[in-house]
Amino acid sequence: MFAKVALSILLLGCLFSQGMGQCSVQNLKITTAPTGTVANGKPVYNVTVTNACACGQSSVVIDCTGLQSAVPLDLAHVTKVDATKCLLNNGDIIYPKESTSFTYAWNQVFTFKPVDSQVSCS
Ligand SMILES: *[C@@H]1O[C@H](CO)[C@@H](O)[C@H](O)[C@H]1NC(C)=O
Repeated sequence: MFAKVALSILLLGCLFSQGMGQCSVQNLKITTAPTGTVANGKPVYNVTVTNACACGQSSVVIDCTGLQSAVPLDLAHVTKVDATKCLLNNGDIIYPKESTSFTYAWNQVFTFKPVDSQVSCS
């Protein structure tokens, strides 16, 4: 009984916060697509991070563990901050429904996960 009530409150809380247009770094969708080109012998992949949120998100950090590239990363769009994290867009805002992208060239497809951001609702 108590568990059910607690669950309902939790669910209501979720609905409420979504209704208020709140969102989080989890609303960033990260997709990777092969570009079909090869650089320094490695296939080039295009990573697109889309802000599927009604609010802007800045200081976006993703988990980019192991990321390597046979060509230099475009530092305007992605910079490594430590062994597991990358900062996108130099920390600049990704507006609602907009995206930022970067490419890398390696034999392996890396899995990126959203980690942190500053959500700004106007
Ligand atoms: C990567 O994909 C995005 C979204 O489809 C596109 O706008 C961008 O031009 C692509 N970049 C490259 C280098 O292919």
